[in-house]
Amino acid sequence: MMSILLGRPLARSSSPRVAGFLPVPRRIPNEYYPTPPEATRALLSVERFDGSIWEPACGEGAIARELSAAGHAVVATDLIDYGYGLPGLDFLRETRPRAKHIVTNPPYGSGLADAFITQSLAFARQTRGTVAMLLNLASLAHRTRTCWWRDHPPSRLYAIDDIVCWPEHRYGPAPSHFTKHRYFWAVWTPNHQGPSAFWWLSAAEFRIGQPSHNNNKKRRPS
Ligand SMILES: C[S@@+](CC[C@H](N)C(=O)[O-])C[C@H]1O[C@@H](n2cnc3c(N)ncnc32)[C@H](O)[C@@H]1O
Repeated sequence: MMSILLGRPLARSSSPRVAGFLPVPRRIPNEYYPTPPEATRALLSVERFDGSIWEPACGEGAIARELSAAGHAVVATDLIDYGYGLPGLDFLRETRPRAKHIVTNPPYGSGLADAFITQSLAFARQTRGTVAMLLNLASLAHRTRTCWWRDHPPSRLYAIDDIVCWPEHRYGPAPSHFTKHRYFWAVWTPNHQGPSAFWWLSAAEFRIGQPSHNNNKKRRPS
C-alpha cells in the first residue's frame, strides 16, 4: 500500500502532518474522497435498481461493495488503480454503457462532476437506466446551476444528514472545515419531467454498530 501511495504525486500541503499519515494536501490527488458505507445503504433503502449497475469512479469500492452486498451485479471501474475493480478507465472517454444503471460519488473539481453527470445521463438514455449521484449540497442552490437543474430535474433528491467523505485511512481525521460539507443523492430516471421529489435520509440509521430504526423506505416520496 505504501509504495502505491508514494508513487502518486501529492498536491501542495496546507495542513501539518498527523503522525502516521500522509500530509493533508489542498485537494486530495485524483479527487479521492471515499463515500462512507451508510450513504449507499441509505440510498438502497429508498431506491430500487432492476439490473446491473456501473460504478464508474469506484475508488477502493466503498459504494460498489455495498451495492454488491445488496445483491446487485456491479461493474466497478476507475481511472486510478486503488486495488479494486477495473483501473485505467477514464469514464469521460467511454463510448458505451457498461451496465444499465450508474451509481457513483464522482470527482467534483474542475467541472468533473458536471461532466460525469452529462455522460451518465447520455448513457442512461441508451439503457433506459437510472443514474444516482452523490453530490455536494451547495451545488443544488447555486446561481450558476439553477438553469441546468431546471432543464435536467432529477426524479428524486435525498439530503443525507451526516456523512464525511474523506480518506481518513490515508490522511488521518478530516480537517474541521471539511466535516461541514453536506451531501445529497440526486436520482434521475428515464423520461422524468417536472418537479423533483425531496426526502431526508439519516446516516446514523445505517452506520454499522448503531441500531437501525429505518423509516426511510416507509416515508419515501412517491
Ligand atoms: C470522490 S472519489 C469517490 C470514489 C468512490 N466513488 C467512492 O464513493 O468511494 C472520486 C473518484 O473518481 C475517480 N476519477 C477521477 N477522474 C476520473 C475519470 N475521468 N474517470 C474515472 N474515474 C475518475 C478518482 O480516482 C476517485 O476514485
